[in-house]
Amino acid sequence: MKNIIAPSLLSANFGNLEKDIEMLNASQCTWFHLDVMDGVFVPNISFGMPVVKDIARLAKKPLDAHLMIVNPDKFIDSFAKLGVEYLTVHLEACTHLDRTIAAIHTAGMKAGVAVNPHTNVSLLEDVLDQIDLALIMSVNPGFGGQEFIPHSVEKVRKLRKMIDESGSKCLIEIDGGINCDNVGMLAAAGVDAFVAGSSVFGSKDPAQTIAFMANA
Ligand code: DX5
Ligand code: ZN
Repeated sequence: MKNIIAPSLLSANFGNLEKDIEMLNASQCTWFHLDVMDGVFVPNISFGMPVVKDIARLAKKPLDAHLMIVNPDKFIDSFAKLGVEYLTVHLEACTHLDRTIAAIHTAGMKAGVAVNPHTNVSLLEDVLDQIDLALIMSVNPGFGGQEFIPHSVEKVRKLRKMIDESGSKCLIEIDGGINCDNVGMLAAAGVDAFVAGSSVFGSKDPAQTIAFMANA
């Protein structure tokens, strides 16, 4: 089975986003990964609704939005209206995660929960039957182009076991430092979906890089 590849637009050319979106539309990628940062939850600001709106208009594939923001509940309806399919919030940013997941579903989207490198995946146990996606951050969130944290592989294996034993249909996504050299190993460890920013947009032939990753 092919790997789900979700290129992160954070590494795209914002001076000509349409060109990169068209490249992705024609490529073997599965989703568009949108990194929304607020400068509070993470030490960086990326983009917000107006940019997501334009991406949604041009993208021919599902939008996978990764909210690195505090109080994500405030924006659930806005992302639903823009046509986002997977809405992922950070476990560390949600005091009432169960309520947030329910609100994402009520708004008609699939719900994802992300965990930072220091957060044990066992904390997902009590929501595994409710979520559609679990995102393991393999770098500290906030910036593209960082190095993959090796300990993330163990986290993937542990979460894979938890999901398989629970019978949950939740997908495992990994985000940060993903490239052609580690996709195959991570797929074998149990990852379903791969976010890749700099390794895709920084390569000579992004569509070919995506094709390689999809089939690794
Ligand atoms: C980091 C973001 C990532 C980032 C990945 O905070 O969540 O999605 O864009 O970038 P690379 O693939 O370059 O590590
Ligand atoms: Zn991301």
